[in-house]
Amino acid sequence: MKLELMRIDKYISSQLNGVSRKDAKALCRKNEVLVNGSVVKNSDEKIVAGKDTVTVQGENVPYKKHIYIMLNKPQGYVCSTKDGKSPTVMELVPPELYRDGLFPAGRLDKDTEGFVLLTDDGELSHRMLLPKNHVEKKYYAELEYPVEEYYISEFEKGMQIDGGDVCLPARIEFVPGNEKACYVYLNEGMYHQVKRMFEKLSNKVVFLKRLRIGRLDLDENLASGECLELLHKDVEKIL
Ligand code: URA
Repeated sequence: MKLELMRIDKYISSQLNGVSRKDAKALCRKNEVLVNGSVVKNSDEKIVAGKDTVTVQGENVPYKKHIYIMLNKPQGYVCSTKDGKSPTVMELVPPELYRDGLFPAGRLDKDTEGFVLLTDDGELSHRMLLPKNHVEKKYYAELEYPVEEYYISEFEKGMQIDGGDVCLPARIEFVPGNEKACYVYLNEGMYHQVKRMFEKLSNKVVFLKRLRIGRLDLDENLASGECLELLHKDVEKIL
């Protein structure tokens, strides 16, 4: 991990949800902050984030530069940080995982379910969304009419959908036992893309769920509406 020199009050407020810079200074004044076992005298003291051990009120505060959260998004929530009308996915983040600067990396429609990555890491989000990085997303789709054999080649050739957008080659897979369901694999995320692709084939998506981003599967034990903090090794599977 890259080591970073940081003021102790900044460290505490960036790592502990609900603790402002002012609160962090007050904790230092009350001798409630230790660095490597010694009481911090001044809140402008610098520490090496990721190396020094910080304790606040007896609790260890490990350094995490960024946070990565897997959300199993339910229908009815929009993927944005603010919305005047509808509830947003941010409302599903439990307080212990919430951080300033958190946002959904990539969008699902309000009526789409499944895997949404929430993070405060703008660089990862940017890399993940660039089509040239080929971060494949897997969806499960249920359609109004049966999935036809010829859809496979239509998806593979790169479809032109309404509005003139041309899709990158994509894959489709049948779901055994359900002729109206399929898995769709995309390397990009245009607006309503899966729905528009099936519309072009005179079919209609009636249910859509994202199951995987890159090589990281939506945890099947994660209930709808629940969040899971990801480990570094999981995040690496995304890119
Ligand atoms: N394609 C869609 O049509 N909707 C989504 O939410 C994601 C992909």
